[in-house]
Amino acid sequence: MKRVARSFLFFTGVASALFFLNTMPLNAQEGKPQNTSIPDSLNMLFHKSCISCHGSKGELMSKSLLNFDKWQNYSDSKKIDKAAMICKMLTKGEMPPKAVRDSKPELVPTKEQVDAICKWASVLKAPGTAE
Ligand code: HEC
Repeated sequence: MKRVARSFLFFTGVASALFFLNTMPLNAQEGKPQNTSIPDSLNMLFHKSCISCHGSKGELMSKSLLNFDKWQNYSDSKKIDKAAMICKMLTKGEMPPKAVRDSKPELVPTKEQVDAICKWASVLKAPGTAE
């Protein structure tokens, strides 16, 4: 009898652990408010390749269109628009500008990095619909 009780406890333990593991990603997807800050891995890339122009120390033209130092102050809809624009410009190879691409090719994001950026942009736009 003792043994049965113990295995029953073990079973319910495993079952509830599985239950929690299962519900965790769901909560993360539906959790509101959504986290609209830039993920660290992408932030590092933007800092390396873009911040000289698209940061508070950049030229007026580029920083007024997109300023990564001010990202947290952007409204959610502006973040969504700018992220989509970043994906588009990088996919078409229009950023960084040609002069930079030619003189500093190490600053050009790789295809994998562009894919990760576009995926992030699409999740911002419609949370939970990635893949
Ligand atoms: C040498 C300076 C420079 C660098 C480096 C640079 N940009 Fe730009 N960017 C500009 C300028 C100037 C414009 C505005 C003129 C244009 O669209 O070509 C611009 C425009 C943009 C726009 C359009 C914004 C809008 O709302 O119209 C996006 C998006 C963008 N850049 C993303 C990036 C990203 C992402 C990087 C880094 C991978 C980057 N840029 C690197 C100078 C730069």
